[in-house]
Amino acid sequence: MTTLKASRTGARVERQPLARYTTLGVGGEAEVWFVSDHAQLAEAMEAPYRILGGGSNLVVADEGVPERVIRLTGPLAQADLAPDPQLSTPGQVVTGWVGGGVPLPGLIRKLQKLGLSNLEGTVGIPAQVGGAVWMNAGTRYGETFDGLHSLEIVTPGGTRHVTPDDLAWGYRNSGIPRGHIVTRVRLRLRPSTPEEVLARMDFADQARKGQPKMKTPGCAFKNPGGGKGAGQLIDEAGLKGTRIGQAMIAPEHANFIVNLGGATAADVLALLRLIRERVGVPLELEYELWPEELG
Ligand code: FAD
Ligand code: EPU
Repeated sequence: MTTLKASRTGARVERQPLARYTTLGVGGEAEVWFVSDHAQLAEAMEAPYRILGGGSNLVVADEGVPERVIRLTGPLAQADLAPDPQLSTPGQVVTGWVGGGVPLPGLIRKLQKLGLSNLEGTVGIPAQVGGAVWMNAGTRYGETFDGLHSLEIVTPGGTRHVTPDDLAWGYRNSGIPRGHIVTRVRLRLRPSTPEEVLARMDFADQARKGQPKMKTPGCAFKNPGGGKGAGQLIDEAGLKGTRIGQAMIAPEHANFIVNLGGATAADVLALLRLIRERVGVPLELEYELWPEELG
């Protein structure tokens, strides 16, 4: 049942099923805190919390989670893309603040129209800016950190401003500790033309042609370095199309698990266990499990 209240600082608080906020469409209830400024965020962080982005990399337990689940809204989900005159140079645009709650796909489209390059390689990733930064989401044509100038990170201990050089970031990893909230970033972009950026976006998007269109949290496992990718390894284990309950290993691409309709977190976890049993190579999970003990 949804109960509505406003917190001391005015945050909207609702008890909601998290399935509503995950691209997999799975997840039980939690207390969701919609915060639109730093005072509301600080209040939300006074008790155990989690930060939710676009929910595009999450498998949430059917029982939900006991912690507060924070969503960035209002000004923390808006983007000021005007070049900052103090920080920009003729060859480099540094934008104003872009909220962690801004949806990445819309941002990429706006940057294309403005002819600003560096982030178009992340086309097709259904994240929010904060989640994309936290994971350093990317494709083989580019990653989120390609377009980052600086970040504002909020923790229960306070707010700090860092640059990518301050972080140990890499493939699908920002080096930002779990629970540290990326509230805003400034983008570092290269002036180009809308046509050139669009051409690069279309090229990067070609790599998605073989990805399933159903409800999913994207790739289940990170690619192990070196040889074959996780998709190919799972495919070669003969697992494409395998179903447990209403969850299935996608026939189109074996590193995607899709929800056929009424999948549960338990169905998805059972498939993840089966994959690990059958594939001879250790695979590191890319999905986030809420709670972590779920796996
Ligand atoms: P969520 O799924 O909501 O959360 C993921 C993690 O980020 C959680 O730990 C959460 O607490 C943390 N987080 C969220 N917001 C913040 C914040 N503001 N501050 C700090 N931490 C935060 N990923 C790729 O890298 N490349 C791809 O090509 C790709 N393709 C995908 C295609 C599809 C169809 C789907 C569904 C997913 C795909 N993904 C891809 C996976 C996913 O989009 C990325 O992992 C993305 O970074 C998740 O961001 P999110 O905002 O949805 O975060
Ligand atoms: N392959 C198979 N069988 C499969 C799937 C793939 O043999 O079932 C083979 C393909 O034929 C290809 C190779 O594996 O030769 C690589 O496949 P693909 O081009 O689909 O790339 P990927 O490595 O599986 C990565 C990212 C995706 C990203 C694409 C496009 C990871 C774990 N995955 O996929 O990211 O969209 O490249 O750049 O790094 C994600 O992280 O959630 C994600 C979707």
